[in-house]
Order: sequence, then C-alpha cells, then structure tokens
Amino acid sequence: MAKQEDVFKKVISHAKEYGFIFPSSEIYDGLSAVYDYGQNGAELKNNIKQYWWKAMVQLNENIVGIDSAILMHPTTWKASGHVDAFNDPLIDNKDSKKRFRADTLIEDYCAKIEDKEKKEIEKAAKRFGDAFDKDQFVATNPKVLEYRARREAILSRMAKSLENEDLADVKALIEELEIADPDTGSKNWTDVRQFNLMFGTKLGASADSAMDLYLRPETAQGIFVNFLNVQKTSRHKLPFGIAQIGKAFRNEIVARQFIFRMREFEQMEMQFFVAPGTELEFYEKWKQTRLKWHLALGLGDENYRFHDHEKLAHYANAAADIEFNFPFGFKELEGIHSRTDFDLKAHEKFSGRKLQFFDPERNENYVPYVVETSVGLDRLFLALFSHCLKDEVLEDGSERTVLSLPPALAPVKAAILPLMKKDGLGEYAEKIFNDLKYDFNLIYEEKDSIGKRYRRQDAIGTPYCITIDHDSLNDHTVTLRDRDTMVQERVPVSELRRIIDEKTNFRNILSKI
Ligand code: GAP
Repeated sequence: MAKQEDVFKKVISHAKEYGFIFPSSEIYDGLSAVYDYGQNGAELKNNIKQYWWKAMVQLNENIVGIDSAILMHPTTWKASGHVDAFNDPLIDNKDSKKRFRADTLIEDYCAKIEDKEKKEIEKAAKRFGDAFDKDQFVATNPKVLEYRARREAILSRMAKSLENEDLADVKALIEELEIADPDTGSKNWTDVRQFNLMFGTKLGASADSAMDLYLRPETAQGIFVNFLNVQKTSRHKLPFGIAQIGKAFRNEIVARQFIFRMREFEQMEMQFFVAPGTELEFYEKWKQTRLKWHLALGLGDENYRFHDHEKLAHYANAAADIEFNFPFGFKELEGIHSRTDFDLKAHEKFSGRKLQFFDPERNENYVPYVVETSVGLDRLFLALFSHCLKDEVLEDGSERTVLSLPPALAPVKAAILPLMKKDGLGEYAEKIFNDLKYDFNLIYEEKDSIGKRYRRQDAIGTPYCITIDHDSLNDHTVTLRDRDTMVQERVPVSELRRIIDEKTNFRNILSKI
C-alpha cells in the first residue's frame, strides 16, 4: 500500500498537472499558504458550493442566503472577541529563525507518543492473532497505560496554561519535553507570545484619516450584523437560518498541508436562529443533518467521525467537529457550534441597537440563540479530491489514474470526441457539442488517440466520453463510455441529454440527505 505521504504528494502534483490548483503567483515563487484554483478546480469548487447552497437554501423553506462584504466596521471584531482573543501562541527558534505554533509543537510530541501506543497494540495483535482482545489489552497493558497517562498529563497541562494565559509555563513544558525544531534539531527557543490571526488593512486615502480595518476571519459576523435586516425583510419567524458562502482570511502561523490550512480560504456557514432553551435540540438535529450531507457524497461512512468538544469556547454551550480521514489522518472538516446568544448580545452592546425578535407565541422580545454550521470549502475540496483520486490496474495489465468524483460535482460532465476531424466527423461532433452545451459543461477534443483522450478525461473525473465515428453520420448513434465501469455502449444522439442528466443531476445526491 502506498504511504500516506506519497498519496498526499500525488494529490498535490495531480491537482497542478490537471488544472485544479496552482500555487498563487507561482512565477514569483508563490506565496506561502495561498493557492489559485485553475480551470477544473474552479468548476469543482463551484459545484461543491452549489451542492451546499441547494441543500441549505433551496431545500429548506426557512433558510435564506446572503452575500455580505469582506470588509466590516472594525467594531464588529471588538464585539465578536476577535480583537482580544483570536490568537495563537507562537514561538520562534533562535537558530533556524523559524516560527511555530507552541501548542502544535506539543501536540505533535503527543502524537508521537500515540504512535508508540499504536505500535504496541499492533505488535500484540500480531502476536495473539484471532485471540487478541483489543479492549482488554488497551485497558491492562502497562506500557499502553503509561503512554496514555503521559499524553493526557501533557495535554491537560498545556490546556490549563493556555486557559490561564500562562505562556511561560507553555515554554517551560516545551523545554521539559526537550522538543526540538523538527527541521534542524535546535532547542534554542524564544519565549511564547500571543499572535493575533487577523489581517489588518486600511480604509481611506490619507494617513491621518485612514480607518484600520480587518479582513474578516470568518463569514459568520456578516450574518450576525444582518440578522434584523434579513429577519424583517424575509418575514421569517424563528426558527430560521441565514446561509452564506465567502472568503475568510487568517494569518496562520503554521500553514501546512496544502489547501487544508490556508491564509485565504472560503467558508460555507449557516447561522440558525432559535428560541432560547431550544438550542441543544437544534444542535443535535444539525449535527445529524450535516453528517448526512457529507455521507451523501459517497466517500465512505467509515471516513467520517464526530469529535465532541470537551473544552468549550466561552460563548458556546455545545460544539463538535465532523472529522474526515484526510491522507494525513482524521482532521476537522466542519464545525457545529451552539453559540448561545453571545454574538447578538455583544453586537447589541457595542452598537447600541436592539437585535431581538418578538415571539408572538411567547408574547415577548428576546435575543435569539444561534446554532452554527461551518464547513471549509477548500477542506471539502481536499477531502473529495484526495479520496477520489485512484490509480487502477486494469484487466489487461495497463494502468489508469481516475478521479471518481460524484458525477454531479465533476468539473466536466461529458467530453465530445470525434474519432477524427475529417470526413465530416468534426462537424457532426460540433453539432452535438453546440446542442448539449446549454445544459452541461463539456469539453471538445479531437487531438491524440481515443485511448489517450479517455485517460485525460478519467484524470479530471469526466463521467462520460462521447465518441463520434463514421457510423454516427449514418445511424445517428455514438459510443458512450462510462468513467467508472469503462463500459462502452452505442446510444442514439437524441438520448444523450437524458442520459447525462440522469447521471449528473444534483438530485442524485440531494435526495439522499
Ligand atoms: N464561524 C466559525 C468558525 O469560523 P472555525 O472552526 O474557526 O469556526 C470553520 O472554522 C471551518 O473553516 C473549519 O472547520 C475549516 O473547515 C475551515 N477553516 C478554518 N480555518 C481554515 C484555514 N486556515 N484554511 C482552510 N480552512 C479553514
């Protein structure tokens, strides 16, 4: 089996080679943790957005979608707590001059202990064979118990120090554990400092009158400040939701793992406004609904899991992540948070405006509670792309690389391939292209052997290839090749629209939610 690292390298190189993702400003050697989406990447991203938007806005009578500005009044970020508390603890290595997140260094150290624990379990499983009782082994083996206790002690000390803002103790912990710069081995560290993740910018021309602004670090606040505008103009009663897709910016200290952690990324967020006291019921409902939405993509139920937060942010009374099994292990894909009335109350306080709802059933005004679902568009792109990219050995011993994306999300729905340009085949193929282009995103290709053209379409995940040959001119049929089964069948041209639509319609996934 290919090593996870190799799989990930292949994902990155395939994304570039086939026009999905390029390093930003590559001709200037790129910009760290910023990426551009190419012609196929932009299509895939748009289709993911459509899947989310349709599931949220189109299928739910009580959810509407907005598009708020990236730049917001700076007081927004004071009220939301981002100015004071949207920080990561950073530490520099004095020798290598490299910057790290102090908590990540400690977490990576603990991950190594966890690896040792796993190896111990694997060794025992091999030794005992079928008789191996994993639960019993884990509960009683002294080595495993020692590893686990050590890990828990380190992580709980770190959590306590961070909570108490005792950064000196975080540094002391790094020194006690003898954690070294992973690249150079140097243990010559600076003190730990807090680092605000928001990007600053200025509004206005002259230096004296310019206003300091931030690029939004989450889209959610654009929803909160518009709560009343939307509620009044949509005339929705509680419970109702506001959805939004948009860019967010975070000056991540350690931005690694390709598009998993970027400095400019996109979020798809929905704030569901509910009556106080009902929020935990809706939180549970949204947890399940969101998981179902992910599962409908067909990437395998075993690749998702919930991670319920034990330590909650000060504004939340429940929170969980949906984690996905990325090539580098299970990591957060989406967050579901019960945010209480914290945000709206804070905006009431800082703006002096009432952000309340008159509930005719309770006959009272109140600040609604909020359940939020927040998924990273780029992370979802990575989950899909890395899971669907496969090298296959065919029956005849040849190999192919195929991107088996859900057909509704595929960048190109069908490729129109005349066997050759001459003898009128090119013109006939163009006629088919011009007829179907109003319904589907297509590719027209006449260069190279048909086999090579099939391989290129497999590599970008095109569900159907349509080959036009000499017979097509007489009997108005074409060869339709299925990406996944590679089965080729003869079909009438007049049936193409129906067949492609049947395969690629969003209904196929939306109806599973
Ligand atoms: N409004 C809530 C919020 O922003 P979050 O957990 O900080 O919560 C939500 O972010 C989601 O946004 C994450 O689950 C992740 O998918 C995505 N995300 C966060 N930071 C990111 C980054 N630097 N690069 C890519 N995606 C990111």
